[in-house]
Amino acid sequence: MQNKQERTSLHGLWSSRWAYILAATGSAVGLGNIWKFPYITGEHGGGAFVLFYLFCILLIGVPVLMAEVLIGRRGRRMPASSIQHLAIESKVSKHWSVIGWLGMTTGFLILTFYVVIAGWALAYVKLAGLDSFHQLSAQQVDSIFSALSSDPVALIAWSSIILLITMVIVGRGVQHGLERAVSYLMPMMFFILVIIVGYSMSTSGFERAVDFLFTPNWSELTASGALVALGHSCFTLSLASGIMMMYGAYLPNKTSIVKTSLFVAFADTFIALLAGLAIFPIVFSNGLEAGAGPGLIFVTLPIAFGQMPFGHEVGTLFFVMLVFAALTSAISLIEAVVAWLVERTTMTRIQAATLAGLTVWLLSLGTVFSLSTPEAVSFSLDILGLELQGTFFEFLDYITANIMLPLGALLIAVFTAWILKSEVTADEIKTHSLLYMTWKNLMRYLAPAAITLVFLNALGVI
Ligand code: TRP
Repeated sequence: MQNKQERTSLHGLWSSRWAYILAATGSAVGLGNIWKFPYITGEHGGGAFVLFYLFCILLIGVPVLMAEVLIGRRGRRMPASSIQHLAIESKVSKHWSVIGWLGMTTGFLILTFYVVIAGWALAYVKLAGLDSFHQLSAQQVDSIFSALSSDPVALIAWSSIILLITMVIVGRGVQHGLERAVSYLMPMMFFILVIIVGYSMSTSGFERAVDFLFTPNWSELTASGALVALGHSCFTLSLASGIMMMYGAYLPNKTSIVKTSLFVAFADTFIALLAGLAIFPIVFSNGLEAGAGPGLIFVTLPIAFGQMPFGHEVGTLFFVMLVFAALTSAISLIEAVVAWLVERTTMTRIQAATLAGLTVWLLSLGTVFSLSTPEAVSFSLDILGLELQGTFFEFLDYITANIMLPLGALLIAVFTAWILKSEVTADEIKTHSLLYMTWKNLMRYLAPAAITLVFLNALGVI
């Protein structure tokens, strides 16, 4: 046993359990819940996809989240170094730290398109603020969105602002101000979502939406849909990118990993489902396309804001909050790279944030042009039998969320449940033996088997 007194991180600890929960929830709740979850649900047929996604969250996502937090808390270092430390403690190869590097790369790549989508949200703050959606028809709202996404200059401008804010926050490390902001914004975001759901309940499409979201029709769940659901369960919980390990590194020893992880997963899932309940009634009552793709929320919600009482105010607040939710996730996507540059080079935090930011900016142009001039950046590729076709953005989104994240989760499951010593994991998880054994068995058997099956299935091997 290590001396408990020694086990605090170099960077200090969270001031309270609540501070950690807030930061972890702030990272988890973001565009993934409000933008991505509804549109992928729409693309993959609803009910069965949603149920499979919930299954992935509970049986794979939550146990992997616990594993990441335990690795971070035990190692008290940066992800790759924490893993290396634990590997040494369990007398196994140090090369398991590759999980940390893979995660850092994935997070970085995700950020390159995340800032562009967050830029959309920021553009909508302005539009909603000017009451541009007042009494517009679905077609009119749709043409506003098309105009924005086909204008590369506007996309670059909005996403650059988002990136700049992210860099300033990360560069200064002013997490306290942000933490405080999140503690107000998260409950408010939840409250506004409830208001929009209230409006949606009054529309003619509500029943159909509930049916669409919660009645599973298993024949609609395709192999690729299952892979997308699995990938998204990792994406939405911010897994496999090292960030939950980093947040775990600042977690006091006595905080329960089980309880806090369950809370974060529950809050995250609840917000995603609320977003679905807010959006699909509007889709159905306005004759819109559920499978409209990434633009879905930007062509549905403004219709509600244009028609409901106080829609101007509610709409503006909603997009402001979406931007905040995106920012608290964006900082977590870049933090690992910045901290790594600071630790391994002579750069200051500001310099590291600037370098990382400029690189993200350059790569984000790929997503910008994928939206404005899709023909120019489209290609088709065949990776191990997976035929990928589409724009640079679609490709990046697919590879990161559906391949790199599940692969990372698989490696984390194998590492914690098969490679690490049981004393180490039991010592960190600190729960009664039945729960511990459930966790361990999920990580040993179910998570690796399910991830492998979903992969093989999507590849058409089985
Ligand atoms: N979870 C966030 C969302 O749903 C996005 C995010 C933040 C993320 N950090 C991550 C996704 C790390 C993958 C990996 O919007």
